[in-house]
Amino acid sequence: MIPSVLPTYSRAPLHFVKGEGSWLIEEDGRRFLDLGSGIAVNALGHAHPDLVKALTDQAQMLWHVSNLYEIPQQQALADKLVAATFADTVFFTNSGTESCELAVKMARKYWYDKGHPEKTEIITFSGSFHGRSSAGIAAAGSEKMTKGFAPLLPGFKHLAWGDHEALYAAFDETTAAVLVEPVQGEGGIRPMPDQCLKGLRALCDEKGVLLILDEVQCGMGRTGRLFAHEWAGIAPDIMMVAKGIGGGFPLGAVLATEEAASGMTPGTHGSTYGGNPLACAVGCAVMDHVADPDFLAGVNRRAGHLRQKLEGLVADHPDIFESVRGSGMMLGLKCKVAPADFVKAGYAAQVITVPAADNVVRLLPPLTLSEDEIAEALVRLDKAATALEAHPA
Ligand SMILES: Cc1ncc(COP(=O)(O)O)c(C=O)c1O
Repeated sequence: MIPSVLPTYSRAPLHFVKGEGSWLIEEDGRRFLDLGSGIAVNALGHAHPDLVKALTDQAQMLWHVSNLYEIPQQQALADKLVAATFADTVFFTNSGTESCELAVKMARKYWYDKGHPEKTEIITFSGSFHGRSSAGIAAAGSEKMTKGFAPLLPGFKHLAWGDHEALYAAFDETTAAVLVEPVQGEGGIRPMPDQCLKGLRALCDEKGVLLILDEVQCGMGRTGRLFAHEWAGIAPDIMMVAKGIGGGFPLGAVLATEEAASGMTPGTHGSTYGGNPLACAVGCAVMDHVADPDFLAGVNRRAGHLRQKLEGLVADHPDIFESVRGSGMMLGLKCKVAPADFVKAGYAAQVITVPAADNVVRLLPPLTLSEDEIAEALVRLDKAATALEAHPA
């Protein structure tokens, strides 16, 4: 008999009932160190007092009104995002997938309104992940995500990650945009080198094509800058955001320049919930922390220590790990064992990690992970690796 919850997930038998900072508490009382943050969502950890206050204060006042009316919290969050980034304008969604939908629509509408309806194609890369909607899976293009879901949304050209020659050859008169994650998350924590991101921006400028960055996973302070593309000193035309921006409350956004957004006039897009008062009140509280340069300096300092210690862990367990990669608090342990086996060993050691493609285990801790918690993380990760050495899965 089919379970009452549609069985699309392979869930671990863990029942968390409470979160405190970097810790998750299981029904049975065990405390797990959370190095996953619900896949890069709880940027400020669990139950951060400022987020709890923002949410509960707003909950006492007003939950929802619809985008038929002005929403002051939405305006405030848009102003903060515009002030802190390349963007001139913001549309709020509830998820990364919805941000992908709008990014694709925005790019195509831009060219349509410019008198180029033939420019509809979007270049994407192998290993990418942009969500599970029809546009999201068509954008990623992998068999794993698209099999059985044909006909797929047309208009995506998939290139191999890192194949520069294919990229130069891929542009033609139908190209509307390039869509890329500055650091691939689901694909196995694969950062695009700064030089490549710079080169890609220059190529898009040369060809007159829009650059869309998917910073759903790598944005909002995750790499130690507010957005990952800042490391390369470039800016996109359109950017997808979600996950960390709500700190655990469902919220996403599409940020864009005035030019790139010029096709999105009244009636061309909408959302019942997107940018509702609860989500935006929380988003404002998240931004007040994450956009603060002192906060980001702390993230970089502690991320550096975490990485250093992970290098030691890899050296201590050469049969389990191959290398560490990533940026800031978005780190990957390239494994010699199946990532799922290490993640499972982590559960026994009461530390949460997340598997990814390319044989990688992801560490996406709260950006607030303390020095003491970094030390504790290493104890637990070492325990998991040692157990896996003693009893290979
Ligand atoms: C880079 C990237 N884009 C898009 C998405 C889709 O976001 P959501 O699951 O919020 O719809 C994800 C989710 O993991 C992601 O990592």
